[in-house]
Amino acid sequence: MDADFLIGHETSPYVCDDTVTFFVRKPDARTVDAVGSFNGWKKGECPLKRHEDGWWISDPVKVAAPGRHRYRFLIDGETYYDDPLNFNKTQNKHGPATFFDTWADIPGMAAQLDGIHTSLLHSPPGSGNPWIRDMCTSFLDDYLQQPNVNRSSTIRNFFVKRVSQALDEIRETRVTQGVQIWHIYNHGYIFKTPTLCFGVDVVTARHIWNLAWDIPEDIPYQLAGLLDLLIVTHNHSDHSDPELIAHMIDLKKVVIVTATGLAGFMPGVAPIEDDSPRAFRGQMIHARRGDHVYDQGRNVRCVTYEIVTDSGVRIYHTGDHDYAERLVWSRPPDILIPKFDGVSPKYPNEKVLEILFKYGDAGLIIPGHINELAHYPLGGRTSLRDAARQFQSCRVPYQILLWGESYRFS
Ligand SMILES: [Fe+2]
Repeated sequence: MDADFLIGHETSPYVCDDTVTFFVRKPDARTVDAVGSFNGWKKGECPLKRHEDGWWISDPVKVAAPGRHRYRFLIDGETYYDDPLNFNKTQNKHGPATFFDTWADIPGMAAQLDGIHTSLLHSPPGSGNPWIRDMCTSFLDDYLQQPNVNRSSTIRNFFVKRVSQALDEIRETRVTQGVQIWHIYNHGYIFKTPTLCFGVDVVTARHIWNLAWDIPEDIPYQLAGLLDLLIVTHNHSDHSDPELIAHMIDLKKVVIVTATGLAGFMPGVAPIEDDSPRAFRGQMIHARRGDHVYDQGRNVRCVTYEIVTDSGVRIYHTGDHDYAERLVWSRPPDILIPKFDGVSPKYPNEKVLEILFKYGDAGLIIPGHINELAHYPLGGRTSLRDAARQFQSCRVPYQILLWGESYRFS
């Protein structure tokens, strides 16, 4: 495991299938060991090696899978230390400890995902057979709603395959009218118009809290090459990808972020004030105040974006706004991409639809923030099935785009 990839991740340890890699910053330590249920709590069996800047990293260790494993660090052979980057804590008769979960595929899982991939290619959004699409989303949900599936290399590889194919398609597609929309991950979408390719909240899943997939480094490079403009609603890792932003800035491309939520973004981004629409190469971009209330009232500034493309398509992206009554748009959008993750503290998903349509009906809804695997089922990881059920009863047409899928709106 590459040290640079691990250092800087917000959660630890790094687990892929049945293999765990421990890392911790402890500049004053002389030795660091990982001891736990996976090695009988024996000293010296899993030493971490010192790296630059006080970081310690273990070799990858194979452990039982699927399963749950408790562990602590042992500093200088005598002091126990709980992993500060692991928020999974347990307490039992031996005292406190952090834990991690491992993953093992059921037989045939990779082949089934290959089948889903092929079926979706033959049944694209809009023109594909709706029963086949329903079956594919159902099978996919069964995997994506497993709590520890974020540790599965098979799911990660499925994602890489779908996104790589989307990158080729974005490169080759010419748009003469309207807009073509690709879904990448979570709430991240790419829009191609006759003159511009831009993204909103595009992330690669390499840097998402509690996910940190080791996907090929060239994916963020390719994305930065394809995008003329990146627009970001707020600085959370499932919406804002530091590696992609850095590549964009290196390539002298524009990354628009909210001026009021600027803290934490790297130098070189272009802040935009709320309610001061800005033109960018034929597109009009209007940011409005949003609030992301979560974790018992911790409140994060984010914005919603209303974007009118050069081809005259009005797009509204809500970011992580939690649907306080003030959600407004100047005119009903042609395409609405709302957050739909089921954790708005104020409103259940059913109520969200009412609020979204209070100011008029959108032309098309593409629900966002579904199956975000760093969140937990019932804790922000809404299933494709739940989203579809909500929208089936709704008066506005909708399209659900799976990873890498696209839809032409004209
Ligand atoms: Fe989010």
